[in-house]
Amino acid sequence: MENIIQFNAPATSLVGGGAIKKLALLVKEFEVNNVMIVTDTYFVKTGLINLIVSDLQSNGINASVFSDVSPDPSLENVYHGLEDFIASKAEMIVAVGGGSPIDAAKAISVLVHNPPPLNQYMGYHKIKNPGVPVIAVPTTSGTGSEATKVAVISDNQLGVKMMIFDKHLMPAAAVVDFNLAKSMPQDLTAFVGVDTLTHGIEAFVSKKSNALSDPLAMSCINLVGKHLATAWEIPEDNTAREGMSIAAYQGGLAFTNSSVCLVHGMSRPLGAIFHLAHGFSNAMLLPAVVSFSLVGALEKYAIVSRILGFSQNSDSDEAAGVKLVDGLEKLNKKLRIPTLGTSGKIEKVKFEKNLEKMASDALASGSPQNNPIIPTMDEIISLYQKAW
Ligand SMILES: NC(=O)c1ccc[n+]([C@@H]2O[C@H](COP(=O)([O-])OP(=O)(O)OC[C@H]3O[C@@H](n4cnc5c(N)ncnc54)[C@H](O)[C@@H]3O)[C@@H](O)[C@H]2O)c1
Ligand SMILES: [Fe+2]
Repeated sequence: MENIIQFNAPATSLVGGGAIKKLALLVKEFEVNNVMIVTDTYFVKTGLINLIVSDLQSNGINASVFSDVSPDPSLENVYHGLEDFIASKAEMIVAVGGGSPIDAAKAISVLVHNPPPLNQYMGYHKIKNPGVPVIAVPTTSGTGSEATKVAVISDNQLGVKMMIFDKHLMPAAAVVDFNLAKSMPQDLTAFVGVDTLTHGIEAFVSKKSNALSDPLAMSCINLVGKHLATAWEIPEDNTAREGMSIAAYQGGLAFTNSSVCLVHGMSRPLGAIFHLAHGFSNAMLLPAVVSFSLVGALEKYAIVSRILGFSQNSDSDEAAGVKLVDGLEKLNKKLRIPTLGTSGKIEKVKFEKNLEKMASDALASGSPQNNPIIPTMDEIISLYQKAW
């Protein structure tokens, strides 16, 4: 097969402190009269949405607000949003929030021009028509959804987090203002920060990594190494928040043009069944999965270890790999991220009962197939057990 890289990104990205003030002018460039803001209730309560609505109005643009998006957005959230979108005669969407409102907005956007149900688009490249434009305004410095062609929507009846990957899910534009992330509580900063790190690592070691995604992935990892601990300790620190916002954007761009791998493959089923925050379930799996995958991409894992300062140039790749696993475990401890078993959020009996379903859903998602070592079903089960 030819070695051709497909690279997608938002057509416009405004990145930096205060970027939110340019949002209305950016919307104006789309020459629309009506927009729908997709968000969650938190940002309605803080007053941010009111500010955005009045800013849009002063620029002659009407805005309706859809805020019924739960963390790990559901199919119901998406269908409800679609109804509101059609009823409001909106022409485009502004998504404000973490990965959940942004993903819900992307799914609503494509359903405007592609027939439901959404489930038929699960997997890769199945969406025929572009949706309405989406401007993504991330507030968590985590998922990178503002720069990915991915939406994750939960089918709560089947207990599955559906991963939909298609270029029509790439936002038309992103407005990345690190000030919006300063209100995150410490645990959220930790979870989304390790999610970002996981994007960088998985994009870098993936079988689909390439010459365009690698530099982004390495920069993402470097920025997390430099800034996550400070953003976690001092929420108002401008430099750390800015660093993490850029890491998240670069991590999203890196993995969407390479791929995520086994951590994300195993994390989605865990999250779907036990309703764990996405970054939380990733973080708890990351050390065990890296340890399992090391031999498949030793050189690259060693580079990750050195970028993070867990090992030195003088360390052999083998030693650097071992130090990477150790460093990731220590990072979780520092950020007070527990293990599966000590999280208090997972009942052991239910965990064991669901091991086969989780392993089979993980494999079905396609992500483990990009891992440096492709695991069998039994290996995934034992990795879940190891992470316990
Ligand atoms: N599309 C992608 O590329 C991609 C990548 C990774 C993860 N995801 C998905 O994204 C979702 C997780 O997104 P997330 O981790 O960004 O969180 P989220 O959007 O689910 O938000 C979690 C909680 O944090 C609150 N919150 C958000 N920003 C805040 C802020 N600045 N201050 C205070 N509270 C804030 C929200 O109101 C919510 O209650 C999952 O469904 C995951 O599967 C998508
Ligand atoms: Fe993620």
